[in-house]
Amino acid sequence: MIIAIDGPAASGKGTLAKRIALHFGYPCLDTGLLYRAVARDCANAGHDLEDEAAAANAAGRLNPATLADPGLRLPGAGDKASIVAKFPRVRAALLEFQRDFAHLPPGAVLDGRDIGTVVCPDADVKLFVTADLAIRARRRFEEQAARGEAVSYERILDVIRGRDERDAGRPDAPMKMAADALLLDTSTLSVEAAVDAALAMITAAVKIN
Ligand code: DC
Repeated sequence: MIIAIDGPAASGKGTLAKRIALHFGYPCLDTGLLYRAVARDCANAGHDLEDEAAAANAAGRLNPATLADPGLRLPGAGDKASIVAKFPRVRAALLEFQRDFAHLPPGAVLDGRDIGTVVCPDADVKLFVTADLAIRARRRFEEQAARGEAVSYERILDVIRGRDERDAGRPDAPMKMAADALLLDTSTLSVEAAVDAALAMITAAVKIN
């Protein structure tokens, strides 16, 4: 069974994907890490992130063993990833790895922006996880403040808004809810309530299909 989870930054989709994978005993692929790693490798090679050829080259050479790099989770890495993610040649270079991961038995959970629309249009269940922009920014602010980082809520709000616009506005594989996806709005839900809601939606969808 393939479970596709898409949605904007800080919607809770990553946490949900991991918890859903744990529940079903499936591996989970955070596909955002692939784009984060491409941006890292492109920058480390001394190239501008707007250089499509350099970013595509980094994507073609990506070593999946480097996805555990904690630097990929730092604030700023997501925004850089969003820049290289707009290039069709970068996306094409990462497609096969994601599809191979999805199709290994017994199943998989993948989260990203285009899993239900492009990577796995054949997924058994598709969730589109979202939350109000202000609530997503507040969550990020609280996470970063709890780590002792000097952050501004307004700045985080601006960065997330810009990232949403870039990810949803690019012509190739934009962030978009698949026509057959189920919508889960986590704005008013605790993590546990969101996990329960997601599992209930998936269980019901699998029974119908
Ligand atoms: O999920 P994330 O915040 O780690 O993703 C970082 C960026 O990578 C995101 O802003 C856009 C890009 N991305 C993408 O274009 N397609 C995906 N399937 C996953 C991420």
